[in-house]
Amino acid sequence: MPRPEVPSGAAEQQAHSVALLFVCLGNICRSPTAEGVMRELVRREGLQEWITLDSAGTGGWHVGDPPDARATSTARARGIVLEGAARRVRASDFEDFDLLLAMDSSNLRDLQRLAPDEEAAARVRLLRDFDPASNGELDVPDPYYGGPGGFEEVLDLVQAACVGLLAQVRKGAGL
Ligand code: 4NP
Repeated sequence: MPRPEVPSGAAEQQAHSVALLFVCLGNICRSPTAEGVMRELVRREGLQEWITLDSAGTGGWHVGDPPDARATSTARARGIVLEGAARRVRASDFEDFDLLLAMDSSNLRDLQRLAPDEEAAARVRLLRDFDPASNGELDVPDPYYGGPGGFEEVLDLVQAACVGLLAQVRKGAGL
């Protein structure tokens, strides 16, 4: 794929690819939603060859399951497709991904415990850290045991954060 145009002033910067892993507890609601939202943003900007995306869970109860039907239908109403089968975070994720994006502070703590060293732990971030309007409230609340409003809220929060995340990633990777 031809190298995307680099913004003026950064002409010497070499563009490089980036791999992002979205992580929640079950990998059936929030993290597949974030993956689907980001995939759509990346597709719209023509960056599919440069940005690799996946999602995983810290827990193993839903391994192999498709995304939750409530998450899938809420996303579909916004033109976003959720796909894939749930998997658990694995040690190689810390080698394969540049950023591991936790949906809440509990996921963040779990990932930091799993990180093999400080360099890897520093690549674990809260997704909502990238939302310029997050105002210090940085969790994407777990919608699993709540009503349909929770899934709409997840999409609102994730969409705002992913726009900010993509802007930062583009800047950092010269894309
Ligand atoms: P997620 O939601 O972490 O956003 O995928 C959950 C899904 C399942 C469970 C908890 C949260 N569970 O306890 O089974």
